[in-house]
Amino acid sequence: MKILRRVDEVTESLEALRGIGLVPTMGAFHEGHLSLFRAARGECDTVVASLFLNPAQFAPEDLERYPRDEDRDVALAEEAGVDFLFVPSVEALYPPGYGTWVEVDGGSVLEGAYRPDHFRGVATVCLKLFNIVRPDRAYFGRKDAQQAALVGRLVRDLNLRLRLRVLPTVRDPDGLALSSRNRQLSVAERAAALALPRALAAGAVAETRCEDALAAARSVLAAEPLLEPDYVEIAAFDGHRLLVAAARVGRTRLIDNISLEGEPE
Ligand code: PAJ
Repeated sequence: MKILRRVDEVTESLEALRGIGLVPTMGAFHEGHLSLFRAARGECDTVVASLFLNPAQFAPEDLERYPRDEDRDVALAEEAGVDFLFVPSVEALYPPGYGTWVEVDGGSVLEGAYRPDHFRGVATVCLKLFNIVRPDRAYFGRKDAQQAALVGRLVRDLNLRLRLRVLPTVRDPDGLALSSRNRQLSVAERAAALALPRALAAGAVAETRCEDALAAARSVLAAEPLLEPDYVEIAAFDGHRLLVAAARVGRTRLIDNISLEGEPE
């Protein structure tokens, strides 16, 4: 695996290559990331992953706390079959004088209502990465369903020539969706965090019984004193109904979702 840090190195290294799959990430890899690397490895001739903690999508105090582990990430990416790991500096992607931002409709509700400018930062960095790497396919996780839907809109609306692949959420055996932020949880907080997937599962069961999915999910969350829900809502992304939720446990914010259409995850 080759590590690339400059934009011109990426251009030069990838110029003659075909069948490129890109997996954008912010590092602190877990099985969710690795599942995307492996899928790209199975479907593409060349697998590129990016590792960039994008300041444009974070509140400053959140960025500071975000886990970083580059040496481990390099080893895991290599093991999962990544050919090129693009690790740009902030200055490489946002040089002095940088001033273009991508605003995708739908970016100010749900996550966007709690994280102002978050999706503007996500859409901007994704478009930059797509233009730098020029992938044929780009891989995203369903765990961040709103992000995947907005990137889908970006690809369609701006006629980007790439195919978006959105893959299932990888969970710990007890149901907690894997997230780089899970590392920030104490043992008690992690136990409390399990109320999030439990609440979503209760909502999905209620839905199959023609009962109120939102009420069922909200009551499970309300019973967990260490968990502070930000929202539990039904969202329709690309015509697909999901129960989506975000909650805070201590200083850590977690999101998760479940399909309300009964197909296997
Ligand atoms: P990050 O949180 O590192 O996630 C990188 C990719 O991994 C995203 O597409 C995310 O949806 C996916 N992912 C995270 N947890 C997952 C899980 N448990 N199962 C399956 N996939 C999972 O999302 C971002 O980075 C950034 O916003 C980014 C798109 C890189 C733009 O900066």
